[in-house]
Amino acid sequence: MFFKKKTDEKRVIPTHIAVIMDGNGRWAKKRGLPRNAGHAAGSKTFKEIARYCNKIGVKYLTAYAFSTENWKRPESEVQGIMNILRDYLKDSKNYVKENIKLGFIGDRTALDSDIQELMRQAEEDSKNATGLKCYLAINYGGRDEIVHAVKNIINSGVSADEVTDKLISDNLYTDYPDPDLIIRPSGELRLSNYLVWQSAYSEFWFSDVLWPDFSGKDIEKAIDAYNKRERRFGGV
Ligand code: IPE
Ligand code: IPE
Ligand code: MG
Repeated sequence: MFFKKKTDEKRVIPTHIAVIMDGNGRWAKKRGLPRNAGHAAGSKTFKEIARYCNKIGVKYLTAYAFSTENWKRPESEVQGIMNILRDYLKDSKNYVKENIKLGFIGDRTALDSDIQELMRQAEEDSKNATGLKCYLAINYGGRDEIVHAVKNIINSGVSADEVTDKLISDNLYTDYPDPDLIIRPSGELRLSNYLVWQSAYSEFWFSDVLWPDFSGKDIEKAIDAYNKRERRFGGV
């Protein structure tokens, strides 16, 4: 009993958790529902997971909602996802009440202008929140982000000698620490172009649970696994 308590006290909460919200389509299929019903259920799960992370003291949560490759999906599915995003953004005032700060990563310019405006509004409304910083990756791709950073750097006129690891990091969409823990549900064991640069030293945790079924308990399992890892960053 005493030993268990001591272990609990030492337990580290990762500063930045990143999640790949995958498995919505399979969740819907299993229930004989349209894929967009899975995306709607996934959006609810995201709200619950953000609240949970806020409660346990995670500082940053970055969730993959729509990739630069997801435009390949049928038009009706893409529209369905964008409508769910609209509903989510309209509801974002509830986050402010819970002291959660909202942000977004990815190329917004390809999104409908009303969605861009809702994103701007959500950021503005929650800018003074001091709890969880919660970022949604929308029209996000890790390679696209690096291309974007390289263009910015070239346009700023710096010489090749001035290009450093830090300069590249500073030109990415993420202006916050790299993820400590990356979680992917739904049984897929890949990054799918998520946080390609930032994940260099992240710990990975995979689960077979489909995203709409994901809960605080699964976050706890991931954090438990994280606590058993030894991060060495190339050292000894
Ligand atoms: C993730 O769920 C959500 C998005 C990519 C937008 P999927 O839609 O990829 O679900 P599966 O992988 O088909 O089950
Ligand atoms: C990754 O899931 C993107 C998001 C969850 C937003 P995908 O379902 O698009 O990834 P792949 O196609 O299985 O690699
Ligand atoms: Mg998928």
